[in-house]
Amino acid sequence: MDTAEISALSVRNLRAGFATKDGVIVAVDDVSFDVPKGKTLGLVGESGCGKSVTALSIMRLLPNPTGRIISGTIEHHGNNLVDLSIDEMRKVRGAQIGMVFQEPMTALNPVHRIGQQLSECFFLHFPNITKKEAWDRSIEALKRVGIPAPETRVTEYPHQLSGGMRQRVVIAMALACDPGVLICDEPTTALDVTIQAQILDLIGQLQADLGMSVVMITHDLGVIAETCDEVVVMYAGRVAEKGTVFDIFEKPQHLYTTGLLSSIPKLESPGKERLSTIPGMVPSLADMPMGARFAPRSGHPKIGEYLESAAFKEERPELAEVAPGHWVEDCEYVRVFG
Ligand SMILES: Nc1ncnc2c1ncn2[C@@H]1O[C@H](COP(=O)(O)OP(=O)(O)OP(=O)(O)O)[C@@H](O)[C@H]1O
Ligand SMILES: [Mg+2]
Repeated sequence: MDTAEISALSVRNLRAGFATKDGVIVAVDDVSFDVPKGKTLGLVGESGCGKSVTALSIMRLLPNPTGRIISGTIEHHGNNLVDLSIDEMRKVRGAQIGMVFQEPMTALNPVHRIGQQLSECFFLHFPNITKKEAWDRSIEALKRVGIPAPETRVTEYPHQLSGGMRQRVVIAMALACDPGVLICDEPTTALDVTIQAQILDLIGQLQADLGMSVVMITHDLGVIAETCDEVVVMYAGRVAEKGTVFDIFEKPQHLYTTGLLSSIPKLESPGKERLSTIPGMVPSLADMPMGARFAPRSGHPKIGEYLESAAFKEERPELAEVAPGHWVEDCEYVRVFG
């Protein structure tokens, strides 16, 4: 079947990186995934694995001039976003794809009233709209995200709101023009746990109401379990494993995935038991082998052999489809064994 019919967004062989004084570092290295229409796809992995760079590539918001998309395609509504002009991309942002960042204050301007900032979103996409209409729509947008007394809140400045309320405003801004896709990059990490749950519920509710597709970026597998249909596990810029949330939680095939899973607390475990952590560090991007990048941390009994081999230095493992739609890096040294 044509993936365009069932996918809201198709990322194919995306490579993106940064020009640094030591040369180009590739932060996202040949990553592919599809965001199914109306569903939630999670991107999960440790800090630095390339989640935000993937999101910023989709939005074409990599920092200029150092960051750039090196190759690959991002198909959305019959367009390859990688090829769009700055003006064309500006129209896509907000109107077709909205984004929510981790820290609400990065998306809000401290010196402008909430209503002014929301109105800006409307002016950008509906040039003929009047000020009054934009203001009224701003109040509606705040209502939609559950902000009490929106007629008052719309006149306030960001610092007058709590963190959770600010994130609601950011979500309202991202959704102002009814995008079909919402990208949430760690939308709740900066918030208290109770507020986190409320924001995730809100996103789920809005998704159900509006039929949006969501990309949920997080390092928290608990959030993934609660919100996602499909999951992409990233390690050091690459896809280690991807599949349905059931595949990933019930039949993980990559030792990195099992490592992540064993580091989340379980209700049934005794309180004082220490959580396991994955030993070792994520290698530096400037010094990456071609081979399976998780290998040095995998704990495989014969890992020494592999780390010494030419294959580790030179051969990139493909992804193998172990069950329909369930893909894992095809290298025996990082695959679940025994
Ligand atoms: N502006 C930049 N210049 C150079 N390198 C960068 C830049 N931004 C990110 N990187 C590098 O790209 C890699 C991927 O970063 P990214 O921000 O995508 O990670 P992440 O998975 O989002 O991590 P986190 O969970 O901490 O948000 C990291 O090694 C990071 O150091
Ligand atoms: Mg990030």
